[in-house]
Amino acid sequence: MERYIIKGGTVLRGEVEVSGAKNAALALIAASIMADEDVTIENLPDVSDINQLIDAIENIGATVRRVDRHCVIINGKTITSHVVEEEQMRKIRASYYLLGALLGKFGCAEVALPGGCVIGARPIDQHLKGFRALGANVVQDHGMLNAQADALTGSHIFFDVSSVGATINVMLAAVKAEGRTVIENAAKEPHVVDVANMLNSMGADIRGTGTDKIRINGVKKLHGTVYSTIPDQIEAGTFMCAAAATGGEILIKNVIPKHLECISSKLIEMGCTVIEYDDSVRVKAGDFIRSANIKTLPYPGFPTDMQPQMTAVLTMANGNSTVTESIFENRFKYIAELARMGAISKVEGNTALITGVGSLEGAKVAAPDLRAGAALVIAGLAAEGFTVIDDIVYIQRGYERFEEKLAGLGAEIAKVDSEKEERKFKLKVG
Ligand code: UD1
Repeated sequence: MERYIIKGGTVLRGEVEVSGAKNAALALIAASIMADEDVTIENLPDVSDINQLIDAIENIGATVRRVDRHCVIINGKTITSHVVEEEQMRKIRASYYLLGALLGKFGCAEVALPGGCVIGARPIDQHLKGFRALGANVVQDHGMLNAQADALTGSHIFFDVSSVGATINVMLAAVKAEGRTVIENAAKEPHVVDVANMLNSMGADIRGTGTDKIRINGVKKLHGTVYSTIPDQIEAGTFMCAAAATGGEILIKNVIPKHLECISSKLIEMGCTVIEYDDSVRVKAGDFIRSANIKTLPYPGFPTDMQPQMTAVLTMANGNSTVTESIFENRFKYIAELARMGAISKVEGNTALITGVGSLEGAKVAAPDLRAGAALVIAGLAAEGFTVIDDIVYIQRGYERFEEKLAGLGAEIAKVDSEKEERKFKLKVG
């Protein structure tokens, strides 16, 4: 099994280029199958989640041509099946976007229920509420969700919670519905806007994304387009935290600074200097890390997907911090792994109470999920001595060439899959 080995303590310096946003790209791929013409998606991150979803759309018959590692041409004209099997759903949760896309395109779709995951139960009741409001009959049968509609009609939908997944899924289903759909309490995350921008470039009529009220006028047909995915806000934020944790200075390129404001302002509060340019940000660590309090919230609040990475930094702060997770109920599993590295924290309800310890020490840990895995890498980069991180398959779901990008900043990190390779790395770095 592949794992990372890190010799911590190196100050990270230099420049790094951020990839396309995984969570935007997943939805763009699903949206692309709604046209019967070529849809070219550029700036795709080359990560396993994306490649799994591309497999899933090929499985239902879509034609996929890879231009290069970051660009595909997708044509939904050749789709022959409306069924996304359980195996695909298990591999990639975001396959549920195919429910909205297939329902919107053909008026029928069958997708396996995604089930829970390590960070929480993750219900999809709001997605189904939206589909039903558009006139679909949605039934659950032996773990499969079956959605059917003779004709989808525009509707006024009020979400009970702000959900990225439900907003995008219902947008997909409504784009070709007859008449006007209004989604209230819509999610405002940058990737919701990105999906609407691509759909609009395919002939859709969606307005108001980025606010909590989205208005969609149904159109008869979607056509092909060429579209470039937005940069990954969370990957950028992860490198920003790596700079803060290691006392370094990193220029993070190919970003939209506006999307990073909630992360930048927290890092400034923690003593870092953050300078914004047109499409890059420079983060310089302060002399020490100041403690801070964080609460995750829907955009433009502090993103839950940055919670573990920021917590890792706060474990090394000069005082006590609190981190409150208000989106997912089980997102502190990695705290026990950080404890192996000398972090002092305890979880009470949905809040982690952190006693800053100044520095961490290397240990053997395992990544419980994608973002928690990134947090352990950040901790390992800053810790004294060697850290070995198991289960990096989670990290590879969402970070493209993570170890290479970090090594480019001076980190002593390697991906190894045997004790022998581990020893070789240790000998090399001394
Ligand atoms: C997406 C992101 C994930 C990120 C999350 C929040 C993708 C592939 N994943 O996940 O990385 O952490 O947004 O920014 O884009 N909820 C319901 N009912 C529903 C749907 C959601 O109660 O039908 C609740 C969830 O349990 C959670 C909250 O709403 O408490 C937000 O979830 P949501 O925004 O839907 O997250 P995802 O789209 O699954």
